Formats: sequence, structure tokens, C-alpha cells
Amino acid sequence: MPIVEDLLSDKGRQVHATTPDTSVFEALELMADKGVGALVVLTDNQLAGVISERDYARKIILKGKFSKNTRVSEIMSRDVVCVSRRETIERCMALMTEKMVRHMPVLEDDRVVGLISIGDVVKWVISTHEISRSVINELLQYSLENVSLADLLKRALDLILSIPWLSFENRGSIFIAETHSSRLIMMAESGLSETVKGTCEQVPFGRCFCGRAALSQIIEFSDGLDMEQRHEIRYDAMAPHGHLCVPICYEGNTLGVINIYVRKGHQRSQQEEVFLTAVANTLAGIIMRKRLEAELVQSARLAAVGQTVAGLAHCTKSILFGLEGGIYIVNKGIRKDDTQKLLTGWNMVQKNIAKVSNLVIDLLDYAKKGSPQYEICSPNRIAEEVCELITYKSRDLSAGQITFIRDFSPDLGQFLLDPKGIHRCLLNLIDNAVDACLSDETEGKNHWVKITTRKEGEDSLVLQVADNGCGMSEDVRGQMLSAFFTTKGSRGTGLGLLITQKIVREHKGSLSVDSTPGEGSAFTIVLPVNSQRH
Ligand SMILES: Nc1ncnc2c1ncn2[C@@H]1O[C@H](COP(=O)(O)OP(=O)(O)O)[C@@H](O)[C@H]1O
Ligand SMILES: [Mg+2]
Repeated sequence: MPIVEDLLSDKGRQVHATTPDTSVFEALELMADKGVGALVVLTDNQLAGVISERDYARKIILKGKFSKNTRVSEIMSRDVVCVSRRETIERCMALMTEKMVRHMPVLEDDRVVGLISIGDVVKWVISTHEISRSVINELLQYSLENVSLADLLKRALDLILSIPWLSFENRGSIFIAETHSSRLIMMAESGLSETVKGTCEQVPFGRCFCGRAALSQIIEFSDGLDMEQRHEIRYDAMAPHGHLCVPICYEGNTLGVINIYVRKGHQRSQQEEVFLTAVANTLAGIIMRKRLEAELVQSARLAAVGQTVAGLAHCTKSILFGLEGGIYIVNKGIRKDDTQKLLTGWNMVQKNIAKVSNLVIDLLDYAKKGSPQYEICSPNRIAEEVCELITYKSRDLSAGQITFIRDFSPDLGQFLLDPKGIHRCLLNLIDNAVDACLSDETEGKNHWVKITTRKEGEDSLVLQVADNGCGMSEDVRGQMLSAFFTTKGSRGTGLGLLITQKIVREHKGSLSVDSTPGEGSAFTIVLPVNSQRH
């Protein structure tokens, strides 16, 4: 709590004084010279009164007197209200308002050690408000950053303890109330000994100062003189101290408690409590926001799980239909001893088993955690491998009629990439491009799939897969990255692009698409390679 001493050390301790016999004119000159509005009047170093500009205005000008031939003793105020160095600023302000005085000498052992004016007090109060505001601003600002609640509370505590006009001990803690239980958990602390940290790690509501503040939702104060009766949680070598425990509340619920240590004999101050309540209210808002954010993340996660399960169920259902169909035809073939049917059915069974295995691989790829396994590799070689694989895979489809154009930059070189990941991306994109060509029924069109590799600038590697297949409508483009979205019925898993995007993101790259229905699409991957050409 700020006291007169704090104010004096801030403004300076020099006392401007005059004597009763000095002329008012000379006293005014001194005031003007020193830039003050009042002087203490001393006789033999003892306080005789105070002379101020107000005395001059009222008792000289209004009375038609002259300052040069009037002595200070004739107009000075003798009925002076004095304070001690230990008086609180709050009390000074109250005294000045009550007694209607603008200046108060500060006495120590009957000696004048300072003079404080209403201006000094108001300036001080304004500056403490400024500090409170900036502390709250800083807290709010900090809460916008991606920091944990524990870090935020520690910051709040350090800010509180660093404020010069709060004469707290440099120790304290902030507790958070457990949800669905009546217990406080210490989440941030400063300056506490290991013993205290251990003893006060968990405090039930209602127990000791912090617990009582949590239960009653009212500030608990102790000046340390009532320790015996009121400090319920005790430990060895507990030094005398008091507490200021401010509950953090939100809509009638206790979210936590700010617990500050004060010196034994500390006087209760409204100003301190108003400040700490403002901090507690700010923290309440921040804690609630953090909780809501966490809830939102949780519910978004649950929604995503729900969608995934639904998509997966749909996907497996169509595969199961295929399997059942195949088995039915196999059985019919056996019964009728029809080899042709047997083969058709068996083919269906095999295809659907392959689909299950593809789906499982896709799912595992998508769920796989961890960063890319970087290796020095050649994107051209990977692209070539994928082209060969696709040509081999689709040799029994009419894909044989699709032309693969290899537009590989010849001097591309090697880069640090995850070769398996990049292989997977190109495979997915080329697979889609082939499907797009196959599903395009435009007559007389010569279908092609073009794979481009090139360097862009100093630090970007571009991999592009373009086709002149069916292209995509706005609607398909909007959904192509949703899990399990496919326009290929039971043939598709709707995971290929999602996995591609995931791998590209893990490489800190980007995936973009350009597509026109009926004309074709181009998928472009841009990867940062930080000039790590090898
Ligand atoms: N090159 C392309 N041309 C046209 N449509 C495409 C192309 N690539 C992807 N798509 C569309 O995006 C959807 C999702 O693709 P993807 O995630 O690979 O799943 P899937 O291939 O299993 O359907 C495809 O079903 C298709 O409708
Ligand atoms: Mg695909």
C-alpha cells in the first residue's frame, strides 16, 4: 500500500521554507522560483504554519493589502493538518478532502521532513491507475498469444509482485479451482519455499485463507497478527506474515484465488484490493476463454472423429457389398459347376480384398504421425518410378491409350525430401489424373497426363500433375479435400488428396489446383528446398 514515504522518495525530499517575519512578496518570489504553490513557515526549525498562493489571493488581493509590506505571519494558515511518513496516500487524500486543505506538512519527531500537496497526491493516484491499466493490458495482450494457462498465471503473478507501489512481500501464488471438485490447485508461484509449495499444493475450499476466499468469494485479509487462530495450514519455521487472498470468480463460480504475502502489520488498503480485484476479473475472463477454446477444440475433434467413422463405415460397406456379390457368384458357379461364373466371382472377391488393403494403407498413412524422413533424393527419379508403376498397373485398363508426358527438368538435381512421401503424393495425383481421363467420355479426345518437375527461383521445387480428363465442378473442388469424399463410388477411398495434402504440409509446402470441367485439371505441389541442392 503506498504511503507518504513512497511519494516523498518519488518527488524529492527538499522542503521549501520561509519564516514568519519574511515579507509575503519575498515568499511569493521563492514560490515562483521553486515552482511550488506553498511554503512551510518555520520558527527555530519548528513548524509555525503554511503559506500558500491561496492565502495570498484571499488575504492580500481581496483585502486590498500589499505583499511588500505584509509579513508572512499575518496571512499564513496556522491551523495546519500534518501527517507522518507512514501515513497511507489513501488516508492523505481523505484528510485533504475532509479538512479542505491543499497542503500537508510531513512531520517526524516534530521536524518538518516534507510538504505534500493535493496535486502530488492526485498525480500519484493517477499514476497508480495508469500502472494498473497497463498491467491489465499486458495480461490481455499476453493471453492472446499461444501460451498455457500456467505460463499466463505466472506472468500475472510476476506483474503483480513487480508493482512498486504495492508493498507486498515478493512472494505469492495463484490457485485454480478444480472443475467439479472443491479444491484449489497451485498453478503458479513466486518466491515460495519448497516446504510451502508442498504444503499448499492443494487446498480444500474453506481451509486457511485461500480456501476461505474460494468458498466465500470474498477477499480474505490478514495482517499477520492473527496467525495463531486463522492460519490453519502451518509448517515448520513459518515466518510471521500476512495474506491478501482475492478470489477469481465468474458468474457466481470460483475459478481460483490470487494469494499474495504481506508483511506482518500490513495495513489493509482499498486501493490494493481494487487493483487485485481488477486483475482477478481479468484472469477470470481469460480462464473462461481458455476453457471455452479447449472445449471447442474437443468438440471439433469429436465431430471429426464422427465424420471419419461415418465415412469409413460407408467405404467399408460398399467393399463388403462387392465381396458379398463376388462370394454369391462364386457359390453359384460352384453349384452350377460354371467355371466362367466362378472366375468372375473370384475376380470380384480379389478386387475387393485389394480395395480393403488399399483403404487400410491409406488410413494408416493418413493417421501416421511424425515428421518427414528426409533423405537426399532425386525428384525426377521418383517421378519416373511412379510413371512406370502406373503404366504397369493400368496396362490392362483402357489406360493404355493415355499418353504420359514426362516434362522433367533435366538438370534438376537432388534435394532433401522424404522420398516415400513424395512418391505417395505423385502416385495419388497421377492415379487421379488417369481416373479423370478414363471417366471423360468426350469422343475423339486423345488423353494425356503430364508430369512436370522444375525448380522455381532459388528455393522452390515444383511438381505438377496435369491431365486433360473430365475436370472438376466447383462443387467437387470444394469437397475434394474432405475425408472419404469421392466421386468414384466404391472404387475410390476419398483419402488420396487428403494424404497428399498432409505430406505436402509436413514438408511445409503448398498444394494448389487449377481445373475446368470438361477440359482437365492441374495439381501443383510447391516445396521449399532452401537452396539445399546436392
Ligand atoms: N485430376 C482430377 N480430375 C478430376 N477430378 C479429380 C482429380 N483429382 C481428384 N479429383 C476429384 O477429387 C476426389 C477425391 O480424390 P481423392 O482424394 O484422390 O479420392 P479418390 O481418388 O479415392 O476418389 C475424386 O473422387 C475426384 O472427384
Ligand atoms: Mg485418388
